[in-house]
Amino acid sequence: YGRALPIALPQPLRAGQLLTLEIDYEAGDGPGVCWLAPEQTAGKQKPYMYTQGQAVLNRSFFPCFDTPSVKCTYSATVQVPKGFTAVMSATSWEKQNDNTFIFKMSQPIPSYLIALAVGDIVSADVGPRSHVWAEPCLIEAAKKEYDGVIEEFLVVAEKLFGPYVWGRYDILFMPPSFPFGGMENPCLTFVTPCLLAGDRSLVDVIIHEISHSWFGNLVTNATWGEFWLNEGFTMYAQRRISTEVYGLAYTCLEAATGRALLRQHMDNTGEDHPLNKLRVVIEPGLCVNPDDTYNETPYEKGYCFVSYLAHLVGDQNKFDAFLRAYVNQFKFQSITADDTLGFFLEYFPELKEKGVDSIPGFEFDRWLNTPGWPPYLPDLSPGEQLMRPADELAELWAADSLNMEAIEAMDVTAWRTYQLVYFLNKILEKSPLPEGNVERLSKMYPKISKAQNAELQLRWCQIVLKNNLEAEYSKVKDFLHSQGKQKYTLPLYRAMWGGSEVARALAMETFSATAPQLHVNVQNYIKKILGLKVAE
Ligand code: BES
Ligand code: ZN
Repeated sequence: YGRALPIALPQPLRAGQLLTLEIDYEAGDGPGVCWLAPEQTAGKQKPYMYTQGQAVLNRSFFPCFDTPSVKCTYSATVQVPKGFTAVMSATSWEKQNDNTFIFKMSQPIPSYLIALAVGDIVSADVGPRSHVWAEPCLIEAAKKEYDGVIEEFLVVAEKLFGPYVWGRYDILFMPPSFPFGGMENPCLTFVTPCLLAGDRSLVDVIIHEISHSWFGNLVTNATWGEFWLNEGFTMYAQRRISTEVYGLAYTCLEAATGRALLRQHMDNTGEDHPLNKLRVVIEPGLCVNPDDTYNETPYEKGYCFVSYLAHLVGDQNKFDAFLRAYVNQFKFQSITADDTLGFFLEYFPELKEKGVDSIPGFEFDRWLNTPGWPPYLPDLSPGEQLMRPADELAELWAADSLNMEAIEAMDVTAWRTYQLVYFLNKILEKSPLPEGNVERLSKMYPKISKAQNAELQLRWCQIVLKNNLEAEYSKVKDFLHSQGKQKYTLPLYRAMWGGSEVARALAMETFSATAPQLHVNVQNYIKKILGLKVAE
């Protein structure tokens, strides 16, 4: 958590009086700044450093008011060794000859969105206001994956939510240990290299981070206890863009995998867990690290609540117009859910009149303050044409005696990645399958069991563990060696630790081999799962 920096003023100041304060400091080995050895990069030649501020890590990067309720502009002069490039979440960049980079962010942002990365990185054009940045060995793949598509998303997003105010939208592909799928640093989203699937199948992460340009980066949750204002609205915006670009059926399929994650989370914790509500109590005195509250609820229950608001309005165009008005009303500010819901009721006086905030069972207060499964679920049936075959195939594979004729009649080779993910979620829900079925499934679908796509690898590893398929434990190990994303890593350690002696040994062995590569937060969460001591 760090501590306060008390500053004594030479004399009392008048309110509004300008004060210039110079703080001379060195960053220590706090969790916000990650220093990577060459072996931890894709190219394995040069070291790398990056910062990850969200939620409260940037206080170990620079002294700041480390709360999302305060916004400011910033500038930075960064000098790096020869052969390195520095990039930041800034609206303007300038390189001077002597390896010095000058950055300026001209719009006010909260401290958690200030980000820096330094490494052997290069860039390539993928659109009129977009570059991809990556280590030289990844740049071709990065360009190929995103050439031309980013602008399409930005144009659709601007049509839906209003002007994009940040100038450029660039993407930086991080080293494999980056703990998130994506991080919405303004002007420069940081993403895991796992997104380079070769077929644009994981582009929903980019659409998600683009959506934060309005929800999160422009209109910001004032406290981490209302993180759903950032993530729930962003999930909704992401799926609006996805619907415009890829259609309703595909978007509902993707949303169904999100709902499955929420189901898994609530099954693990119990629906009544205090974190399973949208407004989480993070009192200063309680010393709760907001990162410890991270789970699917703000994302997927938040998405359901925003969908519920749209359902109350009953007209997509009107709700889109509300979202534009909402962004315009609160841009560059930090707000609470009361501001959001107050504005909603003001914007739709006829709904306020009807008392929609207190319909029994669906009270706004209940959404915010009562843990549990969302009282309203958006209708995902337009995705059924894509889900039904996957549902049917999963049924067939769960049978005691396999109907191979029926199974072989279904051709999965043409399925989209998210259809396979949906299918694997169903298999996982039904696991353990009857003896021998998973082995046969593995042989029958190399596209799944030998997949290089991280979303498929995660599900396959979960299935391997839940079915005690020891012959394929090496895949779990390889996957955990290949990347360090928190949302992939923790579920697998939980599954190993909850499994057999062999699975537990695999967990210990894998952790001791990979720990030095992982983000310190991820290391600590794994230690907790494995019952190891976490350093204060
Ligand atoms: N802002 C989050 C990542 C984050 C959350 C970092 C909390 C630190 C603390 C980012 O926008 C996010 O949600 N990423 C997801 C993408 C997904 C929902 C499409 C991820 O990393 O998986
Ligand atoms: Zn997000």
